[in-house]
Amino acid sequence: AEAPIRKICCIGAGYVGGPTCSILALKCPDIQVTVVDRNELRINQWNSEKLPIFEPGLEEIVKQCRGKNLFFSTDMVPALKEADLIFISVNTPTKTFGLGKGRAADLKFVESCARLIAEVCDRSKIIVEKSTVPVRSAASIVNVLKANTKPGVSYQVLSNPEFLAEGTAVNDLTNPDRVLIGGEESDEGRKAIDALSWVYHHWVPAEKIIKMNTWSSELSKLAANAFLAQRISSINAISAVCEATGADVSEVAKAIGLDSRLGPKFLQASVGWGGSCFQKDILNLVYISESLNLTSVAAYWQQVIDMNEYQKSRFGQRIVQAMFNTITDKHIAILGFAFKKNTGDTRESPAIYVAKHLLEEGACLHIFDPKVERAQILLDLDQSDEKTGVTIHEDPYEAAKGTHALVICTEWDQFSTYDYQRMYDSMLKPAFVFDGRKILNHSALSEIGFHVETIGKRPGESFQAQNWGGANNV
Ligand code: UDX
Ligand code: UDX
Ligand code: ADP
Repeated sequence: AEAPIRKICCIGAGYVGGPTCSILALKCPDIQVTVVDRNELRINQWNSEKLPIFEPGLEEIVKQCRGKNLFFSTDMVPALKEADLIFISVNTPTKTFGLGKGRAADLKFVESCARLIAEVCDRSKIIVEKSTVPVRSAASIVNVLKANTKPGVSYQVLSNPEFLAEGTAVNDLTNPDRVLIGGEESDEGRKAIDALSWVYHHWVPAEKIIKMNTWSSELSKLAANAFLAQRISSINAISAVCEATGADVSEVAKAIGLDSRLGPKFLQASVGWGGSCFQKDILNLVYISESLNLTSVAAYWQQVIDMNEYQKSRFGQRIVQAMFNTITDKHIAILGFAFKKNTGDTRESPAIYVAKHLLEEGACLHIFDPKVERAQILLDLDQSDEKTGVTIHEDPYEAAKGTHALVICTEWDQFSTYDYQRMYDSMLKPAFVFDGRKILNHSALSEIGFHVETIGKRPGESFQAQNWGGANNV
């Protein structure tokens, strides 16, 4: 049979569009994939040696496919005209003004894509919404297209949410837990769904490709992210109880996770969750619920965000309290600025919140992250240069030198391999460690002489635990 799709165009060369299309090109040598973006710098970076995003394993794949069946371009019109299928993966930020301000997703970029498609395309195609969008946005895309379509042209709009997580995108895309395709319940709708599943079937087993109606598909994406964030907020809520009682959140998480109904993943208590998706998607869910007069539902999900704010501020306060209630003019090293390990992305990173809190209390910060660009850190902290209390380091030992405290904000693997004796020797005393990710060996740090505090354990508990261990060894 003839291949239903020969050319794919993706609008948006960001964290979603870039990796998704790279894997698509790798797995479908018979399909030509063109990623377009209006941001020329981004496109140039995708075409260069240094990609605009850091994602383990991605560079090799881009190098392998680029120029063969994978292209990055700012020339949107020809790519749109030629494509049989168009992915929309532009950003959908939270609205900053007007109706739904601070909560509703701003669909202006999605809408402008739909308008452009309708304006330039002169044959029928499949439009696939990949950006996370509010429930019923496919319907808005359909409306915009219908109102502007050229005669004889028709579109099928599908919802195909992306579930990749940053830092593990290549693996998530190569071995997805599932692929959701939502479409219209009509013959044309089913035909479009089949065409997109044909694309995925190049590498994803049929039983993992799930077909459903458009609204279910759109809502599933919001619900999945809300559930994931809720689990972290739940364990973080328990971490506060642990700190007040002497229970240890790691032990509690382990015990909870062994229940097969709950499972062990996403139970890592932390300084708080971040990333571009969780907050935005939950706010979106809250806004939709309110719009539907589902007040209790809205309040329920809002609490997941409130708990995260509480967790971030609790951590900041704890640092100040432990350091004798004042950090004015004290030097503090922040290790890790990305919102999670294996990415250079800082969107909604809890490190930003913690850093701002410490700056407000008058501290001087020394920031090190293996992947985040210097300019990004300064931008996130509203600093024009490094003169005003923020210094960014290329080396963790340089960051630690002469400080009163180390604050771990990201769970980078290499942080647990550093020579903490060397850091301790170069620091002011008493030297503190605040482990916001629970990744370090706390008893080893205490032995060196650090005062260690971590999430979900009573302050000073690590000293005591070590002493009990010592007593038992006698
Ligand atoms: C619960 C815990 O499961 C068990 O581990 C603990 O020791 C005691 O409390 P139980 O209350 O006996 O056990 O039953 P459970 O199967 O958990 O169901 C509790 C309620 O939730 C029931 O009313 C059940 O109908 C309801 N439920 C359960 C749902 O509504 N949906 C579900 O998906 C699961
Ligand atoms: C998330 C979803 O996982 C992904 O399916 C969706 O497509 C996009 O949103 P992402 O935000 O990239 O992906 O990363 P994720 O691994 O979910 O982590 C989000 C935040 O939660 C990070 O700040 C991470 O450090 C934090 N986290 C995660 C915890 O604090 N504890 C955990 O147990 C897991
Ligand atoms: P995500 O994490 O959802 O991928 P990003 O911000 O990383 O979000 O990427 C979205 C990309 O979409 C950006 O590179 C942006 O320039 C691009 N974009 C947004 N609107 C349009 C548009 N109307 N036409 C072309 N590209 C767009």
